[in-house]
Amino acid sequence: MSVHKSDVKKVTTHQLQNMKERGEKISMLTAYDYSMATILDAAGVDVLLVGDSASNVMAGHETTLPITLDQMIYHASSVVRGVNRAFVVVDMPFGSYQGNSSEALRSAIRIMKESGGHGVKLEGGAEIKESVTRILSAGVPVMGHLGLTPQSIYKFGTYTVRAKEEAEAQKLIEDALLLQELGCFSIVLEKIPSELAKRVAEQLHIPIIGIGAGPHVDGQVLVVHDMLGINKEFKPRFLRRYADLHTIMTDAVQNYVKDVKSQDFPSEKEAY
Ligand code: KIV
Repeated sequence: MSVHKSDVKKVTTHQLQNMKERGEKISMLTAYDYSMATILDAAGVDVLLVGDSASNVMAGHETTLPITLDQMIYHASSVVRGVNRAFVVVDMPFGSYQGNSSEALRSAIRIMKESGGHGVKLEGGAEIKESVTRILSAGVPVMGHLGLTPQSIYKFGTYTVRAKEEAEAQKLIEDALLLQELGCFSIVLEKIPSELAKRVAEQLHIPIIGIGAGPHVDGQVLVVHDMLGINKEFKPRFLRRYADLHTIMTDAVQNYVKDVKSQDFPSEKEAY
């Protein structure tokens, strides 16, 4: 017997595929906690990504490498509790899938069982083929991630645009075709030339989601703290800021401090 928690029509991999086929762009944002997830889900975001960027924006690390599987599961389970409609993808953290496909399967199963997420995302192409195959064989939807893959930052050395040279572009196309052939339901392309992203989106039948990959892909993803302007320092060319929450929150907190110091807060009306 199945138990239905709500009548809302949930986003599925099948629906995402249909969206590509009918030319409807897919909206995706990161989320790391319950309260934010409820807002993003109610606002109509199609896919919520519990990104390992939590390592940067939630924990203050310089890279995504330190975040652990347990920490990702904690963030993901909080997000899942806030969602009615969106499809929730959980990043597999660095060290949980590279090199050993049995370990990769164990990690993916832990994510699915313990967080309630709907799919996982892995960075890389041919080099993680066995892990992707093994996870898919367990019935877990897999999203790929190519181009700038932040878990390999120490190999790249910088966060600049990837695949500008033909050899790297060719390898990226081959990796994308391989991930599709293995059965991935979608691929994220990060920080690559717009024309290359266009070629991939045209050649592949699965949805291609871009971040810094231009407009000719099937959907867009941004880190929610960046697009809401919570984080002021990060200003890459591809980022559009939809709010200045840093200023709004700073003003609100400064007013609170002022009111506490001046004993304006709490008033008689705000007391029992
Ligand atoms: O972790 C993350 O936020 C991501 C996006 C940048 C795609 O992988």
